[in-house]
Amino acid sequence: MRATIRPYQHGDLASILQLWEQTGSVPVGHDGLTLDQAVELMNANPPLTLVAEREGDTVGVAIGGVVGALGWIYRLTVAPDGDVAEVSRELISELELKLAEGGARKVATVMEQDSGSLAVLARYGYAAAGTMRYLERPLPAIGAAAPAALEELGAHMIGPGLWDELRGLDEAKQIIERRVILPLAEPNLAARHGVSPPRAIVLFGPPGTGKTTFAKGIASRLGWPFVEVEASEIAGEGPEREAKLLAESFTRARTDLASAVVFVDEVEDLASARTDERKVSPSVTNEFLKQIPRMREHPEHLLVCATNWVRRLDPAFLRPGRFDHVLPVGAPDAEARRAIWSRYVGEITDEPIDVDELAAESDLFTPADIEFAARKAAQRAFEREHFEGPTHRAAQEDFLHAISSTRPSLSTEILDSFSEDVARFARY
Ligand SMILES: Nc1ncnc2c1ncn2[C@@H]1O[C@H](COP(=O)(O)OP(=O)(O)O)[C@@H](O)[C@H]1O
Ligand SMILES: [Mg+2]
Repeated sequence: MRATIRPYQHGDLASILQLWEQTGSVPVGHDGLTLDQAVELMNANPPLTLVAEREGDTVGVAIGGVVGALGWIYRLTVAPDGDVAEVSRELISELELKLAEGGARKVATVMEQDSGSLAVLARYGYAAAGTMRYLERPLPAIGAAAPAALEELGAHMIGPGLWDELRGLDEAKQIIERRVILPLAEPNLAARHGVSPPRAIVLFGPPGTGKTTFAKGIASRLGWPFVEVEASEIAGEGPEREAKLLAESFTRARTDLASAVVFVDEVEDLASARTDERKVSPSVTNEFLKQIPRMREHPEHLLVCATNWVRRLDPAFLRPGRFDHVLPVGAPDAEARRAIWSRYVGEITDEPIDVDELAAESDLFTPADIEFAARKAAQRAFEREHFEGPTHRAAQEDFLHAISSTRPSLSTEILDSFSEDVARFARY
């Protein structure tokens, strides 16, 4: 049966990803495009991507585009197990027609020297252009990282500033910087010293201490996309289907992106020692355990799991073969609180503020509590001006009032049990 050629639709993405996977176009194709770049081109406006379909299967895809008089074939992929020549011919001739309709008077493409697509194209009159050289230079990820494509892949970029915005917590920050970020950012130097970059880590600590922020900070620092795999998203589908959906989430995170920080929050819901403390069925937990070694095979993917309840986790879950580091993210000390307060005070007011006093008064506050109290002080000053007429911005008294009316998340019991957890579980 002949393949039918039709325009690409969003629903084709999954089968196209499969096709690319099957033909070795992931993470980088013979055309030099990474997956997110190819997806971005596929979603370009006006759209110029054609899909070849035979008996419901996607057997080919051609991504094209027109820039003025020049038409491009950005990517041509055909399933190896069908009639490659026939499907290629149909895709190329249909695409050429579309390019010509779009105003192109010449078609160009970029291919690796000895790729199969090059041979196919040669058969249709495409020839290397004399002494011409293809040049390229990658642009930094900021802004250029195809937000629409990433979103379609369930990922997003975190601005480069987040890591530096994380104040205080210097100890946790330094450990992560040295053990996690540097070996990933400098793989060659790490290899020279026999240091293997981490593939998976666990962050643990009381709620609001900054675990999620750290995970995003790592992505920000590395310039890698951030993808969250959420157990809650797959809940309610029945154990079999949930396990399948979980596997799909991880597979996509691994294959759709050349690099990524893959984040699993509240990992105790998936991996508590006691079944009744999990939010998922045993088959989902098993699937999750199976996915960890697969994640570990990908050096440019870092799995970050976070938990508020490290002692609930199955001790076997935390073993070194699975996770390279188990890192505590604890309560901010006075120094860290001062740094966090300074950040918010600077945003909220230009009145003179005694940050040392705020830090002293906010013992047992997490960074999240400090943020909350700081917003409260700002709100108080705002309301004062609204109801009583022009006045100064938030002052010391507003901050102290906000602190005394905010219940700290931490307690000495929580801190004691965290210290025990650090002694029992931390490993870095
Ligand atoms: N070191 C820090 N400096 C400034 N703000 C922080 C810091 N750590 C956390 N925050 C803020 O506190 C809030 C809670 O942090 P989050 O990462 O969600 O905690 P967790 O995941 O541990 O519960 C966030 O709004 C974050 O912006
Ligand atoms: Mg969190």
